[in-house]
Order: sequence, then C-alpha cells, then structure tokens
Amino acid sequence: MIKNHPYLVNLRACWQDERSMYMLMDFVNGGELFTVIKNWKIPEVQGQLWVAELILAIEHLHSKKVAHRDVKPENVLLDRLGHLVLTDFGFAKVADPLLWTKCGTYEYMAPEVVQKTGHGCAVDWWALGVLTYELFSCDVPFHADTKESAYNKIVKGEYSIPSSFPAEVQDLIRNLLKEESRRLGCMEDGVAGIKKHPWFSTIDFNEVLHRRVPSLCRPKVSSAEDTSRFKTYSESDFDDPPALSVEQQALFEFDVCEGRTKWDDSSERFLPGYGCCSTGGRKQDLVEFAEVNHR
Ligand SMILES: Nc1ncnc2c1ncn2[C@@H]1O[C@H](COP(=O)(O)OP(=O)(O)OP(=O)(O)O)[C@@H](O)[C@H]1O
Ligand SMILES: [Mg+2]
Repeated sequence: MIKNHPYLVNLRACWQDERSMYMLMDFVNGGELFTVIKNWKIPEVQGQLWVAELILAIEHLHSKKVAHRDVKPENVLLDRLGHLVLTDFGFAKVADPLLWTKCGTYEYMAPEVVQKTGHGCAVDWWALGVLTYELFSCDVPFHADTKESAYNKIVKGEYSIPSSFPAEVQDLIRNLLKEESRRLGCMEDGVAGIKKHPWFSTIDFNEVLHRRVPSLCRPKVSSAEDTSRFKTYSESDFDDPPALSVEQQALFEFDVCEGRTKWDDSSERFLPGYGCCSTGGRKQDLVEFAEVNHR
C-alpha cells in the first residue's frame, strides 16, 4: 500500500464482500484536472508546477516498480489548495517483469502498449507527454475519429505541436513522445533526465515535494466536505454485480491487515476503530484499527 505521498491519493482501507471490493481513499474535493483544462487557459508557470507534481507522483510509483498505466486528466484531482493528486489505480501493476495486457485509455497509450510488445513503467512518461500537450491545447496529440486510427498515429508517432506552445514545452513533449529506448525518463539517468529538462530550470523539485510552491489555481470549495465539484449519482445508477463464491473472494484477499474498516448500515458511516483482517483469516475477524480520519 502506497501511503502519504503528497501527490498520490491516500488509500485508507480496503475490504470486500461477496459482490464488491471497496477501497476507501481520502476525498480530494477540488474536482478533476480535466475540468480545469476545459475551462481555463492554463498559464505556463501553473502548467510547469502541475507537471512537476505529477513527475514526483510517478517517480514515487516507479521507485516501487509500479506502473500506473492510466495517467490522464480525468484521473488527476485537485486538492483544496490547487495541488494535484493522482488517483485511479485500477490498471496499476508491478511492472517487473514486463506487462502484456493492452490497457489504459487509448489516446494516452504508448506505442509499446498498442503493439503489445511488452511494456513497463515507461508508459507513464509517454502519458505525461500527452497530458502536458493537453494542458496547453485542450486536445490530445493523437486525436482521431476512431480508436484504430488513433493507434495508427501513435505507432507512427504522427502528431503536430501548435507553434503557440512555448519552445521548451514543445521540446519536452517531443522527448516524452518518443519510442521507449529514446524516451525522456527511460534512459540511463531515469527521471533525473526529465527533471533537468530546461523547462524545469526554475523549478526546485525538493520545494515542490514539500508542497512549498503555491498553486495559482484554487478550486472554489468551502470546506474539506464540500462535494459541489462532483456530480451526484443515485445508488440505483449501478447494477449489482453477481455474487462470488468464498473461493473466488479469496482470490482478492490482501496480505495486509492494515487499513481495514467496517461499514455500518444503520448509521451509513464507516465505524472508526475497527478493521477487517484478511491475513490468513476471514472477513469476520475484526481487528482494532485506527480511526479513519480525513487528512
Ligand atoms: N479520492 C478521490 N476523491 C475524489 N474523487 C475521486 C477520488 N478518486 C476518484 N475520484 C473521482 O471518481 C472518478 C472515477 O474514479 P476512478 O478514476 O478511480 O475510477 P474509474 O475506473 O476510472 O471509473 P470510471 O470508469 O467511472 O471513470 C475519477 O475520475 C474522479 O473524478
Ligand atoms: Mg478513472
């Protein structure tokens, strides 16, 4: 479990029942980066800070050999202070040895994913190149009417960068959207190669890591509980998945007994102080667990 990184969503607890697996995360309430991109012409210095924050998030995942595999603006949230938080670990996986499943969101897929030649953490640096492009243009570089023609363009590296992009941003994107062996972030100096790109010459990554560089963009939220930047869905919008047998459920059990909690139907709240330990035990084995607080 990856915890307490400033730019990765914090996972508090995981548990399951016969129909679903649940992951309890901190609520990040500033909305999606996607919405910001669609509604705001992002100033260069803001783009620089946000890309730097994502570099640190991805660097941390990669230091654990985890590839996120779905870096895109819908999976990047803003916190109350306008800093980014990477979420959605639905496709994240330890990438050692190489991974082979074609997964992710097609506009952001690296050529090695599209071609199924085996992929690793490098796919996240490609996706960062796509996202950086989008920050300044509201569009993706491999835009196409069909998935197949997008794949074609990705494999051929067929895209153009608007001349309105600052020259250093153009250079960064070009170096991220390269085949893996020549991609920035994937060569001998690894992530340091990205951090020392001229576009980041004014960025102190250590200051960014400690959240000491303020964001210019502050989402309009009144408190940590303000949900106004998200749509409301009714519970009936979701179909009940089929129930699993005990044997099937066991396939999803975690090796950690940390971070479990219990849902109380009557109060419709998570009960603080309890968790479910699945290390060699069953869900019924409740163990004491720290209170589930907001960060
Ligand atoms: N910790 C969080 N706090 C607030 N909102 C979140 C959080 N995690 C995810 N979200 C929101 O929920 C959306 C869907 O979650 P997520 O990306 O994890 O799942 P998904 O598999 O992509 O689901 P979907 O298919 O519905 O997009 C995200 O795009 C984001 O808007
Ligand atoms: Mg998602």
